[in-house]
Amino acid sequence: MNIQKNYSLKNRNTFGIDVKAQFFVDIAAEEDLQLILTDENFRHLPKLILGGGSNILLTDNFPGLVIKISIPGIEIVKEDKESVFIKAGAGEIWHSLVLHCVERNFGGIENLSLIPGTVGAAPMQNIGAYGQEIKNVFESLEGYYTENVGKKIFNKTECSFAYRDSIFKRELKNKFIITSVTLQLSKSPVLNLDYGTIREEIEKLSGGRRIDELSIKNVSDVICNIRRSKLPDPARIGNAGSFFKNPEVEEEKFAVLKKSFPEIPGYKLRNKKVKIHAAWLIEQCGWKGKRVGETGVHERHALVLVNYGNAKGSEILSLANSIRKSVEKKFGIRLEEEINVV
Ligand code: FAD
Ligand code: EPU
Repeated sequence: MNIQKNYSLKNRNTFGIDVKAQFFVDIAAEEDLQLILTDENFRHLPKLILGGGSNILLTDNFPGLVIKISIPGIEIVKEDKESVFIKAGAGEIWHSLVLHCVERNFGGIENLSLIPGTVGAAPMQNIGAYGQEIKNVFESLEGYYTENVGKKIFNKTECSFAYRDSIFKRELKNKFIITSVTLQLSKSPVLNLDYGTIREEIEKLSGGRRIDELSIKNVSDVICNIRRSKLPDPARIGNAGSFFKNPEVEEEKFAVLKKSFPEIPGYKLRNKKVKIHAAWLIEQCGWKGKRVGETGVHERHALVLVNYGNAKGSEILSLANSIRKSVEKKFGIRLEEEINVV
């Protein structure tokens, strides 16, 4: 195991924030994870678990041990007539797992194509996009408590999944390390085309074929195209996707807002609440495309904050706070961060 001291995390987070970890270790096997967690030199240090760094904002040097999880492996662990149960190591790249499944026509995660990051982080915020969330295909996950190094398997109920949320983002943040995730996928996929413009886009590309002749590969391709056209590539400009969650408000409050802002986009949820696109609220406050020093709001998507090169984490946080204040002032809605501030 190669434990590095005073390690720069600049290339380990998609915002490209240049801070240092006191110690850094890259873990590719469960045995090494057990070793490092029980090592007397590191046992009592604060820990930060890291995957691809695509959903974190680092605001300072990290005084402790950063554990990058790179555990590999994709295997079928169980099968029946309808389903296949795929277990993947936490260090696998999420999109590689999607492609692996799409190639074999195992349906369920094609709508989650091209989400950056690792398999291990995916349940952490119950990743979601284009009408699908990982919780809908989730079977179980395995991992270790950082404190006592006890192993545990979590079933779906125990994960407390919700919109961009789970027990791992709350009580167990940096206290439980996910080492593998098992998904239940369908051998006879049904295409999920109900979100936004997917149906329109897929019809354009279908070349006269009927929708029921199309495959999950077609869906994955269309979603990759949509995502590439909307969201900035972190390899070109530092960002972490949506900075805030889409807020939910009571139906009554939405009706009042609608009177003052007839264009406000919202969709009804089952719990008598309405979900509103935070990007629209932010754009209405005039932030879209705005630059503040080395930070800014992306010109194509108002929910994505960017680092133009040398921004500090604290500067991005300060921009986020100004945005939050102006949205609260104009709409009376308080935005909640989606990303993990460290
Ligand atoms: P990291 O950023 O490394 O970690 C995120 C959090 O998970 C941290 O708190 C970390 O401590 C914890 N963590 C990481 N690995 C583990 C582990 N093995 N065990 C326990 N805890 C762990 N998200 C969506 O849901 N939908 C989208 O459509 C979407 N689009 C995006 C587009 C762009 C351009 C970008 C940059 C990000 C986008 N995201 C999206 C956010 C991000 O891709 C996901 O949250 C992803 O799951 C993060 O994976 P990661 O490996 O990079 O996690
Ligand atoms: N919009 C604006 N201005 C903008 C961008 C969008 O007004 O600059 C409005 C438009 O009305 C548009 C609507 O917002 O129709 C929706 O935009 P989009 O489809 O991009 O979805 P989103 O609500 O902004 C959410 C997720 C994304 C996910 C997409 C697709 C959250 C916080 N974000 O974004 O996830 O990819 O839906 O399902 O839920 C992420 O979590 O990092 C992420 C990128």
